[in-house]
Amino acid sequence: MLKSSLGKKYVMSITGQLVCAFLVMHLAGNLALFAGKETFNKYAAMLEANKVLLYAAEAGLISIFLLHILTAIRLSLGNRAARPEKYAVYKASGEKRMASGTMIFSGLVILTFLVVHICQFKFTPRVGDTPTIYDVVQSYFAQPQWVIFYVSCIWVLSTHLFHGFQSSFQSFGLNHPRYTPMIKAGGALYAVSMCVGYTAIPIFMYLGKGG
Ligand code: HEM
Repeated sequence: MLKSSLGKKYVMSITGQLVCAFLVMHLAGNLALFAGKETFNKYAAMLEANKVLLYAAEAGLISIFLLHILTAIRLSLGNRAARPEKYAVYKASGEKRMASGTMIFSGLVILTFLVVHICQFKFTPRVGDTPTIYDVVQSYFAQPQWVIFYVSCIWVLSTHLFHGFQSSFQSFGLNHPRYTPMIKAGGALYAVSMCVGYTAIPIFMYLGKGG
């Protein structure tokens, strides 16, 4: 089943929804930056306190991201290979083809963002508590080029979330004249909330309005 195109779409949907849940938790935690250095560092220390739980959560997160990315690659390669026959029986609408092209582009931008982001915030060399995780975040968001980088990438991420949210429900056959508009509205609300929440952090910290 997982080798079929439908099975792969299920994997994309489930892993995508798990990433959506992670993004809500990550944002909620990062909003502690507005409460100040002490609060944010306490929050970060709490996350790191239980090493077993931390490594298990990180392993889960990496697996989810990898599964999502690898399945996306396999799906798009599969679609490409099947294209000659596909056109004979089913013509993808212009809108559908454009959306999947955009998803690949935004996905690649997010992947690049993640590599940079994790190198900056997770693997910055620190000796004990110097610099603290708050200092690391603050030092990047004091530089306009990084604020622009983060805001642009989060904007692209939001377009990915906007389309991905609704298509994850469609993969499960939830396509109904009554519920589809509600799912679309939910996806829009989710994507806009993530966009506003995540972009507020670098902008406000740059302006010196962080905690
Ligand atoms: C302005 C927005 C953001 C801030 C301030 C921020 C902050 C951080 C910080 C401080 C860490 C390191 C945590 C630690 O070492 O304990 C981190 C890790 C991480 N961030 Fe973000 N982040 C932001 C946006 C994002 C976005 C948009 C994504 C996903 C697309 C993301 C995904 C991750 C991941 C996957 C990790 C590694 C988690 C781990 O291994 O524990 N972050 N982030």
